[in-house]
Amino acid sequence: MQPTTNTPRILIIDDEEVVIDSCTQILKGSGYLVATAMDGTIGLRSVQDFHPDLVFVDLKMPGISGFEVLEKIQEIDATIVSIVITGFATIGSAVDAMKKGAYDFLPKPFTPDEFRMITRRGLERRKLVLETISLRREKELLREQFASIVSHELKAPLSAVQQNLFSLEYELSNALNEEQKEKIERVKVRIDELLKLINSWLRVISVDINKLKDGFKQIPITQPLSSALESMKPFAARKNIEITTAIADDLHPVTGDSISLSEVFVNIIGNAIKYSPENTRVLVKIEETKDSIRVSVKDSGIGISNDDLPHIFDGFYRGKSGQAMAGHGIGLAVSRQITEAHNGSITVESVLGKGTTFVVCLPYEKTGP
Ligand SMILES: Nc1ncnc2c1ncn2[C@@H]1O[C@H](COP(=O)(O)OP(=O)(O)OP(=O)(O)O)[C@@H](O)[C@H]1O
Ligand SMILES: [Mg+2]
Repeated sequence: MQPTTNTPRILIIDDEEVVIDSCTQILKGSGYLVATAMDGTIGLRSVQDFHPDLVFVDLKMPGISGFEVLEKIQEIDATIVSIVITGFATIGSAVDAMKKGAYDFLPKPFTPDEFRMITRRGLERRKLVLETISLRREKELLREQFASIVSHELKAPLSAVQQNLFSLEYELSNALNEEQKEKIERVKVRIDELLKLINSWLRVISVDINKLKDGFKQIPITQPLSSALESMKPFAARKNIEITTAIADDLHPVTGDSISLSEVFVNIIGNAIKYSPENTRVLVKIEETKDSIRVSVKDSGIGISNDDLPHIFDGFYRGKSGQAMAGHGIGLAVSRQITEAHNGSITVESVLGKGTTFVVCLPYEKTGP
């Protein structure tokens, strides 16, 4: 059979000639391209030149060890599937090999059927790995395309309409009667709401986690929190809600992006205000646990039902209890994305009619002994 670019490629690295010979023999006529190497160094060169889908590696070889070969294969191409051939099939060595990236192990001696079967499984695995990567890329591409459509086809024309409306209003300012002015005002409000919604969509689909990580710095957690509290002050004042803070001393700094973290706090403190009745209190507390900074925001508001609780972090989801208040169901979805980009977590506890507590945990780096 003529090999094609899709023909599966298998590399066998083993210092025992008899193993190499029998493996090659077993795979003969099965439509695979097979290459062999008698030690780790030659094997790794072959990984670079032959581009295998599946590599069998003997753990015990003279020269560089099978473990080292496994590690290097991962560095060269983490999508290559490696299976360990081992004469000392102890659980320990197999577990160690898996830790170094091996997909499975094959104890010596093995029958031709066992070898054929594990080969098929290994190649199946490789196919799945490649398919997952291409699906992820496709999803990424769709996300970018959607962001670009929303931005160019919706946001830009709507902004132009808004701009024209502003100038029309200015030009006609002396000619319009009260009723006409009111109509224009209503159109302005609707356009403004639409633009806000579009901006929220863009925010959800364009939080690029990896780009966010590029700007990470060591910051005191009080920095993003203070800025969030400052911007939420007027909203709290409007409902006569008192925001109390309890901040522990000598907190470790966290590694992150202050502006994004501030956005997280704006969202959860904003929700606490929005979903609370007037004249209530919101408590913002910062504590330190043995490995993370824990920020909690507790309100005595309308609460969230048990049916809604599992979904509130999903994009565009709005709980039943809060639907009288304006919102798009985006704040928490974005907050979760941002928190997870900081290797942190965001959790919630709530009792319907009683109140809600959101907790953001962010790990800090331990210094010293
Ligand atoms: N503190 C809270 N008390 C009660 N319900 C809350 C609270 N925080 C969030 N929720 C519920 O979770 C849902 C999702 O919250 P999220 O902040 O994502 O969206 P939103 O507030 O509806 O809109 P926006 O996108 O403007 O933030 C809300 O619609 C509300 O039902
Ligand atoms: Mg919200």
